[in-house]
Amino acid sequence: MTFHRAYNFCAGPATIPEVVLERVREELLNWKGRGSSFMEISHRSTDFLKLVFEPARENLKKLLNIPEDYHILFITTGTSHQFAMVPLNFLNLKPHKSADYLHTGVWSGKAINEAKRYGNINVALSTENNRFTKMCSPNELKLDSNASYLHYTPNETIHGFQFHTIPETHNVPIIADMSSEILSRPIEVSRYGMIYAGTQKNIGPSGLTIAIIHKNMAGFANALTPTLYQYQTYIDSGSLYHTPNTFGIYMAGCIFEWLLNLGGISEIAKINQRKSQKLYDAIDHSSFYRNPVQKEFRSQMNVIYYLPTVELDQLFVKEAQNNHLINLKGHKSIGGIRASIYNAMPEKGVDVLIEFMQEFERKYG
Ligand SMILES: Cc1ncc(COP(=O)(O)O)c(C=O)c1O
Repeated sequence: MTFHRAYNFCAGPATIPEVVLERVREELLNWKGRGSSFMEISHRSTDFLKLVFEPARENLKKLLNIPEDYHILFITTGTSHQFAMVPLNFLNLKPHKSADYLHTGVWSGKAINEAKRYGNINVALSTENNRFTKMCSPNELKLDSNASYLHYTPNETIHGFQFHTIPETHNVPIIADMSSEILSRPIEVSRYGMIYAGTQKNIGPSGLTIAIIHKNMAGFANALTPTLYQYQTYIDSGSLYHTPNTFGIYMAGCIFEWLLNLGGISEIAKINQRKSQKLYDAIDHSSFYRNPVQKEFRSQMNVIYYLPTVELDQLFVKEAQNNHLINLKGHKSIGGIRASIYNAMPEKGVDVLIEFMQEFERKYG
């Protein structure tokens, strides 16, 4: 049966490289000649550990150049679980049991609301008054030198707002929710106390979170923290305290290999830079499409834009879908269009989208 694989701009779970899907299809029934799939073997078997789990961890370490003094954990949760795990594990790092949070969109907002249940949370900066489209002036930043950590969301998936430099702090550990940008550009892991990311954007299917934690940060969990909410549990058991999401780990490993074969993070970063630049140029060179985000903070992963009317936004999404350009509808909280162009979106997909946008403008502009 022939079919047309669409260019899928979904914000998450997001598109997966076609070659990876083909590999999975190939390996599904008879993985490495074992007569079963990788999902049907024990997570404690040598096969799983040596051929799936350890290579995935090692390849992630290689890709991000993760120093030896960091733990790499695979946690079977959604990303939102981290909004509770982070304060439960790290508020105790300092006697004040407080933390600084930057509020730059829906996801950092959710992290703040959850953290407030456990301790003293200082919102050191909020761009809510600017509808999360512009950064505040530096004198509005209210950092607390007694904070146990500073939490921020480098890429706000819904608002298409991305930090391109690491925020200043009073020398407190930085914790970043990198769900929608991990592996898209080089990062200096040693600048962070902890990085976490759900896998459903740049690392495969949903249901798995990767945490990279500096060794000095572990072991401070609040005494009543449930076992599976303590990072120490994952550290002590090598992320195998309970049956993990073996399919998710296998898929993550395939994605890491795909990225390494492509030339690693420096290579994908160049492609991502080109893809987003083209799309923003197409928006900026037209008076029909409009992106509201301050230029220095525009996201390379989630490009949002508006047409002149809501009706045109809706028509655009519908006609795009008829042309195999799918999942372009903006998040319900802000409307408009959102093109998520993560690592797995081929450059050709962005070119086809731009051609479609130009054609649509000619027709309705
Ligand atoms: C930056 C960011 N953080 C957290 C989440 C929540 O992820 P989950 O649905 O896995 O809890 C998302 C989901 O899109 C996100 O984009």
